Amino acid sequence: MSRVGVIGLGYVGLTTAVGLARLGHQVVGYDINESRVKSLSQGQSPIHEDGLEDWIGKCIADKSLSFTSDSAEFADAECDFLFICVATPQDKDGAADLSVVFNVAQQVAAFALPDSVIVVKSTVPVGTGAKIKEIIGRPDVQVASNPEFLREGTALLDFMEPDRIVVGAQSDSVSHKVLQLYSKISSPKVATSIESAELTKYAANAYLAMRLTFANDIAELSARSGAKVDDVLITMGLDKRIGPSFLKPGPGWGGSCFPKDTKALVLVASEFGVNLPLVSATVKSNEAAFVRAAESIAELCGGSLRGKTIAVWGLSFKAGTDDTRDSPALAIIEVLIGKGATVRAYDPIASAPTLEGLVQSHSAIEAAQGADALAVLTEWSEFTSEDPDLVAAAMKNAAVFDGRRILPKDWRTSFSSFRALGE
Ligand code: UGA
Repeated sequence: MSRVGVIGLGYVGLTTAVGLARLGHQVVGYDINESRVKSLSQGQSPIHEDGLEDWIGKCIADKSLSFTSDSAEFADAECDFLFICVATPQDKDGAADLSVVFNVAQQVAAFALPDSVIVVKSTVPVGTGAKIKEIIGRPDVQVASNPEFLREGTALLDFMEPDRIVVGAQSDSVSHKVLQLYSKISSPKVATSIESAELTKYAANAYLAMRLTFANDIAELSARSGAKVDDVLITMGLDKRIGPSFLKPGPGWGGSCFPKDTKALVLVASEFGVNLPLVSATVKSNEAAFVRAAESIAELCGGSLRGKTIAVWGLSFKAGTDDTRDSPALAIIEVLIGKGATVRAYDPIASAPTLEGLVQSHSAIEAAQGADALAVLTEWSEFTSEDPDLVAAAMKNAAVFDGRRILPKDWRTSFSSFRALGE
């Protein structure tokens, strides 16, 4: 059992704190946000994540997990490992803003125990660990990189059953010391350099984004050429070298990671004098996918969106989360509004931002009421159990765009115009 401090209790930090407590460590989570810490201490999760709140309660009850916003109390916790899990948002040029990470590094340098390890879990560009080591400036304190590969919505599962765990450090002995924290997990473990661990994270996200863009572009080509997109992509994925995952076409990808990580990777590569044309094209093509989806919706309205009311089902960037950061649904809604439409949106848990021309409805059917077209933009399974006849009858014009390809077959007959992405 080790004593672990986790700094930053967002989705990564909180999942890490709970996960490490479940693995038998003594964990204290720190965040400057007092109200967040207060509700966490009462067992309430600030984010919607499957199973997280239950586990927070269990770990608080068995005293393996506590939270504080008092920096002196946190410093006194005498941790063997200090995990940095603070945000690295995009700055105005698209690069990762590392000011909070560096600030935290400066603070922990003052109280880290001799022989302790500072573990960077925040997503940081290659080369950051070396800078953190410099900021900490203590030969008795080690720095390691342990990027996360968690997906929102399945974060705890991904923590407990990851495809791999990678730890980068200046020496193998430090990497192994950090990997030891995960000894109860049987997944492959990789000990490497800090730079390799840092780059692995960006490379993995950029590759996944690129794959999705490829699938989305093939969906568009299928639509225009008469090919059946599911047949094409599923058959492609049967090739063991390709594999079936992450080939489901959608109206573009989004979320808190892919959009910012792809842009940051292109920028950091250029600092090293390297061009990443595939990643740059992926970012561009994803933006085109949002416009393409809006055009498909416009076609259902006879070509023009001016004065039209569009019902949108789904606001979050994917199902299973209330996160709307860089959500494709919101990007498409902005295009629709920009072309003169009014949007009535419904999401089971996510909230709509304040945007002129966008109104949030309380139910799927309410959003559809009197609409000129309906667009399904997030793959919430509850949308598939709506009665298509009732939805079609509620609308002014029974036209639907299935941007996630989730609607059952009978929707095709209930609607006078039905269009699924890739058709
Ligand atoms: C992503 C990565 O999958 C995680 O491995 C990584 O740890 C995380 O970013 C991060 O860097 O923190 P996440 O942002 O939660 O996880 O979302 P994904 O499940 O990867 O989905 C990203 C976007 O791709 C969503 O808009 C989703 O709808 C879309 N998507 C995903 C598809 O359109 N088709 C698919 O087959 C899969």
